[in-house]
Amino acid sequence: KILILDFGAQYTQLIARRIREIGVYCEIWAWDHDPADIARFGAKGIILSGGPESVTQADSPRAPQTVFEQGVPVLGICYGMQTMAAQLGGTVAPGHQREFGYAQVQVIRDNSLLAGLEDAKKDGKPCLDVWMSHGDHVATLPEGFTIVAATDNIPIAAFADETRHWYGVQFHPEVTHTKQGAELLRRFIADICNCATLWTPANIIDDATTKLRAQLGDDQVLLGLSGGVDSSVVAALLKRAIGDRLVCVFVDTGLLRWREGDQVMATMAEHMGVRVIRVNAADRYFAALAGVQDPEAKRKIIGGLFIDIFEEEAAKLEGIRWLAQGTIYPDVIESAGSATGKAHVIKSHHNVGGLPEHMKFQLVEPLRELFKDEVRRIGVELGLPREMVYRHPFPGPGLGVRILGEVKREYAELLAQADHIFIDELRKHDLYDVTSQAFAVFLPIKSVGVVGDGRAYEWVIALRAVETIDFMTAHWAHLPYEFLDIVSRRIINELRGISRVVYDISGKPPATIEWE
Ligand code: XMP
Repeated sequence: KILILDFGAQYTQLIARRIREIGVYCEIWAWDHDPADIARFGAKGIILSGGPESVTQADSPRAPQTVFEQGVPVLGICYGMQTMAAQLGGTVAPGHQREFGYAQVQVIRDNSLLAGLEDAKKDGKPCLDVWMSHGDHVATLPEGFTIVAATDNIPIAAFADETRHWYGVQFHPEVTHTKQGAELLRRFIADICNCATLWTPANIIDDATTKLRAQLGDDQVLLGLSGGVDSSVVAALLKRAIGDRLVCVFVDTGLLRWREGDQVMATMAEHMGVRVIRVNAADRYFAALAGVQDPEAKRKIIGGLFIDIFEEEAAKLEGIRWLAQGTIYPDVIESAGSATGKAHVIKSHHNVGGLPEHMKFQLVEPLRELFKDEVRRIGVELGLPREMVYRHPFPGPGLGVRILGEVKREYAELLAQADHIFIDELRKHDLYDVTSQAFAVFLPIKSVGVVGDGRAYEWVIALRAVETIDFMTAHWAHLPYEFLDIVSRRIINELRGISRVVYDISGKPPATIEWE
């Protein structure tokens, strides 16, 4: 396993994902994590991440000394390289200008990290296309190091001490713009650190199953199943580990996707053999939401009701000691905040507000160490349908925030069908996987249309499709006009009550992905 010490770079999670993709387990810890833990962790290699600060500032972060006392290979990336230089006796020069974007580095000396890699040649020497994002740079080498790569701007773009197996690169091997970045990381992890590439879906599952059996013994576990990827994978994993001692509660709110309730039951209960208690609560939801316009008030009602129902069901069950949750690694990293203050926060249920503390369950979170792409891969390996595992995200409050203003059963039914038509056509046209999220929104506005011979005065459906990596920013998807035409015709022809379809062409920011 590999340890990544984080100096606060936006790319740190990407480093970890690349290493996991190579098939090696790694964890991200804050740079000021207790050094004693670092020694105990027993990593076969340590990576120092980039970071926003300047090594030339007096109180900027440093790698704990213990990193250099473990006798294991170390790779410093960007800030990580600079702090290595500063801590090991070299110097760092402040940058007057940020270098950001593509750059070409020239490999000037053979070394185990870069030997034989080449995207182009310049003056007879191999060059690499890389991604840079830095201000400062290393000015003089620490003792024992040699320069292995340079650019026109910086004489020391990478350095190496082949005796101690310590390396530094100023560029970012973890981003795909650095063409040979994945190979560079593979060499560091597999060849230099000698890590075996055993972190595969099958091994992750075996490992998790063994741990869950040891942790849970003969106890029973309760899980709130939402139909989303994370909770479904938790269910499949627990089913494998403890069989029928897993009980799931699935609340059908009436605000789910088209026939989603039946699909969840078909997949989880029938296909996977998981014990699922289905609670049909649509009536309660529509009653509670009657007359409510405000989006935040709607979210609170939807989340609160979920908790009430979940508690009611839990109270009917006996002898349950554990509550399972689909917390994944990014949630853990984000909520850990600083070094050791790893508060064990109860994640607000993906679909709802968060479970109350007075439910005296112990938590079991089998996906806590996994990234989303790993969760998906083990989901497929566990036998969940690909279609479910690679589904677009769906917000917890469901159609409740896609019906603008007051939520009514009639609106929800129309919206679910319109949304289904849109998704169905996206799949048929091979456009589903190229959009990150796509859905229909119900606009409670009446607009005039002519249907048959008559004048119709009916509701409007808006279509939204976005492309995004992280859902923090997004572009609207440039779906073909012919495709939009097909969807629009189908919705207007097949659904009574809809006479107009519009396409949302707003980016995020400023518009959010959801309309409420
Ligand atoms: P926005 O609308 O903020 O959405 O651009 C970003 C992503 O978050 C999802 N989303 C939610 N998910 N509960 C959730 O579980 C919510 O209340 C909620 N609101 C937005 C949204 O679908 C998109 O993927």
